[in-house]
Order: sequence, then C-alpha cells, then structure tokens
Amino acid sequence: MDFDDTWHPATHPSGAVLPSLLALAEALPRKPSGLELLLAFNVGIEVQGRLLRFSREAHNIPERFHPPSVVGVMGSAAASAKLLSLSALQCSHALAVAASSAGAPLANTATQTKPLHIGNATRRGLEAAQLVQLGLKGNPAILDMDYGFGIYYKDYNPSAMPDCADGGFDWALEKQDVAFKRIPAHLGMHWVADAALAARAKIEAVRSFESSEIRKITLRVPPSKYINCPLPTSQHQARHSFQFNACSALLDNNLTVDSFNNTQINRKDLKELLSKVKMETPEDNKPNFEKMYGAVELETNDGQRYAARCNTFYGHWRKPLRQEDLIQKFKSNASTVLTSEGVDGIVDVIENIENEKDCASLFSYLKMENQQKV
Ligand SMILES: *[C@@H]1O[C@H](CO)[C@@H](O)[C@H](O)[C@H]1NC(C)=O
Ligand SMILES: *[C@@H]1O[C@H](CO)[C@@H](O)[C@H](O)[C@H]1NC(C)=O
Ligand SMILES: *[C@@H]1O[C@H](CO)[C@@H](O)[C@H](O)[C@H]1NC(C)=O
Ligand SMILES: *[C@@H]1O[C@H](CO)[C@@H](O)[C@H](O)[C@H]1NC(C)=O
Repeated sequence: MDFDDTWHPATHPSGAVLPSLLALAEALPRKPSGLELLLAFNVGIEVQGRLLRFSREAHNIPERFHPPSVVGVMGSAAASAKLLSLSALQCSHALAVAASSAGAPLANTATQTKPLHIGNATRRGLEAAQLVQLGLKGNPAILDMDYGFGIYYKDYNPSAMPDCADGGFDWALEKQDVAFKRIPAHLGMHWVADAALAARAKIEAVRSFESSEIRKITLRVPPSKYINCPLPTSQHQARHSFQFNACSALLDNNLTVDSFNNTQINRKDLKELLSKVKMETPEDNKPNFEKMYGAVELETNDGQRYAARCNTFYGHWRKPLRQEDLIQKFKSNASTVLTSEGVDGIVDVIENIENEKDCASLFSYLKMENQQKV
C-alpha cells in the first residue's frame, strides 16, 4: 500500500524488522519483555541507518536497488539475532548470510512486486539468524569488502563503529528521525501534494476552483525516473506519480486512501487535468529527502498564475506528525482487521512498551480479529 515510514538516507526501516520480531517473539518459549523487543527493534533500525551512511549514493533517492531489499534484510537479520541472543561472531555470520539474500531491482517499483521486496527482506533476515543459530556460517567480513556488501553501491566506504566502551556510540535514530506518511504513496508525493493544495487555496482565496478553468499545471520536482508517471493506469503507478498526486489533490482538495482506487484513477476530469501537466526538474531540486521541494504553478484560462511551494510537508522529520494523528492513522487502518478493544489495547501497550513485563499482552490484542473484516 506504500504507507510505511521512510528514513533518510532512504529506506522503509520498520517494515523489514517488525514482522520478524513479532513472529519470533510469538514463537519463543520465553516471551521477551517489552524492553527486549524494543531494543531488538532499534538494533534492526540502527543497522540499516549505519549501512546507508557508508555510501554517498545512498543519500539520494535510489536509482538501482530498492533499499529495503538491501539494508532491510540486514536489519531483519540483526534484530532477529539480537532477540535470539546470538553471540557477536554469530551476529556477523547472520549478516553475512542475509547479504546473500539482498538486492531487488528498482524497476519493480510501481508494480505489485515492490511490496514483496520488503516481505522477502523480513523473511530472509529472520531465516538467516535462525540458520546461523543452527550452525550455518558465511563470510563474517562481508561488510568490509567491495565484493561483499559493497556490491550494492558504487561508492561503498565502510568505517569502523565507535567502541561503546569509550562512550563514543550514539544512535543514528537519535540524530535522524523517520518520516510518517499521511498519503499512501511514495514519500516524494507528499511535497507535491501539499504544494498543489496550497496553490488551490490561493485560487479559492479569490474565486471558486473549477478544474476546467485550469489551462496549464507546472510541477517543479527533483529528477527521478520511477516517480515520473504522466498517465498512471494502476494504483501502484498512481502511488509513484508526481502528476497523479498533484492533480488528485487539486481536484478533490485532499488525498486519502480512496484517492488511489480504480474508480478515482479512471475519472475523466482527472485525466483531463493530467493532460495539462508539464513537469520540470530544476537544477536546485535535489533527489534527496532532506533537500528536495515540490512546487506547483497553476495557470488559468484568463492568464492568471497561482504558485505554491512546499519545502517540508507535515509528517516529515522536520515537522513530525502529532501523536494523535499518528494514532489516528494506525486506528483507521487496524480497525479494518481488529476489534476496537484490540486496536486500543495495542496503542496502550506500545505507548508503554518499555515497562511491559512480557509482550504476551501484545499478542492477545493482535489476535482480536474483527469478524466483519473485508
Ligand atoms: C526473495 O528472496 C530470494 C532469496 O534471496 C530471491 O532469490 C528472490 O529474488 C527474492 N524475491 C523477491 C520478489 O524479492
Ligand atoms: C481529508 O481526508 C481526511 C481523511 O479522510 C479527512 O480526515 C480530512 O478531514 C480531509 N480534509 C479535507 C480538507 O477535506
Ligand atoms: C473509490 O473511492 C470513492 C471515493 O471515496 C468511492 O466513492 C468509491 O466507491 C470507491 N471505489 C472503489 C472501487 O472502491
Ligand atoms: C489497511 O492496510 C491494508 C494493508 O496495507 C490495506 O490493504 C487496507 O486497504 C488498509 N485500510 C485502510 C482503511 O487504510
């Protein structure tokens, strides 16, 4: 659904880690404490952040590999190894085994296969840790070698981690928070959607908005092949189309889960708006989630221009979602599969996870299935 959190350098950090940990915690004879679960989760996130910092290429919106398939599988292996209490040497082997399951091509984004990448990553990472627990070995120096983990980047340049004992260790996660999406689409869409809403509001400040009155729509976005899709025909393409997200926001004055359904994608007035879009990629708009912006300029039939630019959307790490909006996002999705007791119970447990004696209560809430689920 492309609704998962996004980090910088770019990856979706949680999706590859949380499913492994939940599966493992559920299967372990002794249920881990909330703190153990949280620590393993953070290790899985941290490993991904560290690896992404070993390449300049990784700082930009990716061009070759889909990042969850590269660092996600490593994060899943690290988190699983932590929860299984593997030794330091076994952890190196788990990462080595996981590295042999890494790497899916970016060309499969905007198709149904993209979500499969992260599912595969979480599964293969967990499997790597379990195989090592059974005695499997890989090359424990895999992270230090050009023809090891280095094959996934053109400019891989690893550095040693500071020694915890010297007090030199700090968490990447503390320096750089993650972004939470408000729209179920590629993160880059949020900038252009907010700029489109602001441009529409400028029209509405002086006259009513009529899409037939729009003569030309100019989008100024960073260059990136896989999110440039002038006429999407599937929900997956729509989630990766600057043009679609700008036009839907203009037409409906909003973007929601439903905006990406087939009825909405195939609307005639939407297609008309799409045909008026011109996309530009200015020099100063970098394909990088820390630096990029989205700008929209509307020209009406009478020659008036209304322009707006978004540098930081609501949900970006510089402008984080308020806790109540994050919880609302969780609830509106989870309530389609769980009872309200289950949904509220999960929110309570997670808000207090570090104090939970064991995570059995989490699993009891996760099992409260809504019988009316679709
Ligand atoms: C899933 O992982 C396996 C093993 O790493 C790999 O061969 C396969 O290509 C991956 N499939 C997808 C869809 O990512
Ligand atoms: C946009 O949609 C969301 C989700 O359905 C809704 O909560 C919000 O009120 C809507 N905003 C506007 C301006 O209609
Ligand atoms: C798509 O969303 C619109 C707007 O919420 C809704 O009216 C329509 O029934 C939905 N169509 C499908 C196929 O889900
Ligand atoms: C909730 O998430 C699932 C899985 O991504 C998706 O299929 C479903 O449409 C979502 N429902 C809502 C209401 O967001």
